Amino acid sequence: MAVELNHLIVPASDKSEAASFLAGIIGVEVGDQWGPFIPVQVGGVTIDFEDHDPGDIRPMHLAFLVGEDEFDAGYERLRDTGASIYADPFRSKPGQINHLYGGRGVYFEAPDGHFYELITRPYGSASEG
Ligand SMILES: [Fe+2]
Repeated sequence: MAVELNHLIVPASDKSEAASFLAGIIGVEVGDQWGPFIPVQVGGVTIDFEDHDPGDIRPMHLAFLVGEDEFDAGYERLRDTGASIYADPFRSKPGQINHLYGGRGVYFEAPDGHFYELITRPYGSASEG
């Protein structure tokens, strides 16, 4: 192992709500608070949600590579929550998913303006399709 991303901090106006939202969509557990952080473990990376003044939050984009079953489950949970979803990062195709690289992908709005994505194939893994 040379280098791996270990953790990152996502600012939130309500770190518990933000962590629960993400964990609920991708189907993982919210961890116990550690210092000022509410962690969500995703593979080898810990996403630490931290409370910030809402005016200081710059939206982040995070993408999650998931299996087909996990995509189905996540997509269903997105529909259940009524989250705004899009097939593209420009939000020009609301309510749709994409089929890039022979897989499926969907962008979705998260608390505090963060913009997340579920994909079943990494970018560039095949022709865009
Ligand atoms: Fe992306």
